[in-house]
Amino acid sequence: MTRILMVCLGNICRSPLAHGILQSKVSAEHYYVDSAGTAAYHIGNAPDRRSIAVAKHNGLDISAQSARQFKTSDFDAFDYIYAMDESNYSDIISLVRHTGDIEKVNLFLETNPSIQNKNVPDPYYGNEGGFEYVFDLITETCDLLVKKLGK
Ligand code: 4NP
Repeated sequence: MTRILMVCLGNICRSPLAHGILQSKVSAEHYYVDSAGTAAYHIGNAPDRRSIAVAKHNGLDISAQSARQFKTSDFDAFDYIYAMDESNYSDIISLVRHTGDIEKVNLFLETNPSIQNKNVPDPYYGNEGGFEYVFDLITETCDLLVKKLGK
């Protein structure tokens, strides 16, 4: 079983999409996918209604997800931890205990060589268009990730 954790700030916009999209592309028998936020703002909340809507529009139901905060034990519980942006990456790295933890953490977009800016833009303060862009960017990157994991 390979265990993958997607992490953003609030765990209501970007990482729930990455969680749902990757989960839809891998077998539940071999992969466990989850998501978390570095901040505590939205613990227990469902994803943002705009993330739920863009996912639904693309045939994916992420409405049952519930936000939680990243915790140090996630370094033990997961094999790969993907940060949606550099700020999330720094926040996760600030919690590492040893080099084994550091090695598990990567920027999600490092998987996508066609994207120069390695930050998945935070769509929270924007409009629906931002969510569509993020959905497509995460989908494209998850396809590359699935290929990489399969090797
Ligand atoms: P996310 O977006 O990190 O992609 O879930 C955000 C959600 C909420 C807030 C910021 C970003 N907030 O400040 O409440």
